[in-house]
Amino acid sequence: MTLSVKVGGLKLRNPFILASGILSHGSLLKRAAGAGAGAVVTKSLTLEPREGYPTPALVAFEGGFVNAMGLPNPGCEEYLRTDLPLAKEGKVPVIVSLAGSHEGEFERMAVLAADAGADALELNLSCPHAEKRGLELGQDPAIVRKIVRRVRSCTSLPIWVKLGLCDSLIDSALACQQEGAQAVVAINTLRSMIIDVDARRPTLSNLFGGLSGPALRPVAVRCVFELYEKLSIPIIGSGGVMGWRDAVEFMLAGAAAVQVGSAVAIKGLQIFRELCDGLGAYLKKEGFSSPTNLVGLAHR
Ligand code: DHB
Repeated sequence: MTLSVKVGGLKLRNPFILASGILSHGSLLKRAAGAGAGAVVTKSLTLEPREGYPTPALVAFEGGFVNAMGLPNPGCEEYLRTDLPLAKEGKVPVIVSLAGSHEGEFERMAVLAADAGADALELNLSCPHAEKRGLELGQDPAIVRKIVRRVRSCTSLPIWVKLGLCDSLIDSALACQQEGAQAVVAINTLRSMIIDVDARRPTLSNLFGGLSGPALRPVAVRCVFELYEKLSIPIIGSGGVMGWRDAVEFMLAGAAAVQVGSAVAIKGLQIFRELCDGLGAYLKKEGFSSPTNLVGLAHR
């Protein structure tokens, strides 16, 4: 039984991908690969270094987490010089996540990432609280089209676009497809808030943050299901995968691979082995020869 899949211009040994932002340093991405991840996605990079927001930047609740880190990173060039080579020692594809504020920034970073040896790009058009980047871009199909077109024109690397919950999700995804993106990642965290009843004010320094974890999963599965009906490029599911059943659920909805974030924070890197073992046993028991055979089956 092989768990390998071809998705979005990459060949992966299994369909389980470390989501962006969970482990930042190159050495930790290498460890995720060692623990069994099929691919790893870097923290979203910006052209200039960013310190990120003050603490508290992360709060746990019964449905998962709400976080607003503020896209902390040492800047694209520095990260690519110091962290990318370490990450690549893990010998699985390293997908470089980019968070620009306009198509020119995305183009510059895409060229730098390609020169540095990235295996693919993930355009983060969906951070729900980064001013003038993220969801503000991804919810406008015309802006999405402009950014993907510009990045497509400057690199032959596979382009994945991470989109978030918005009324125009399907139109934005279709714009990605029309402009030559190889995959859409759905979805990012949901804009949300936790209020500290003792302090009587929002817990996060940024007030708003992105909700991740199990509470997000039914929304994300619904989005993947709807996207699958309209798209011909692969969809990578993301949102609250805690175990192999959740991953299978995303695949049945139409995901060709899944990203795992909050589960790594809760269960540690052993989640990747758990997912591979569970998926392998399920495929065998049900008589499937490849994870690919599951993709979209819930649409029958
Ligand atoms: C951050 C970015 C994201 O894309 C997200 O979903 C959550 C948090 C951040 O760095 O603040």
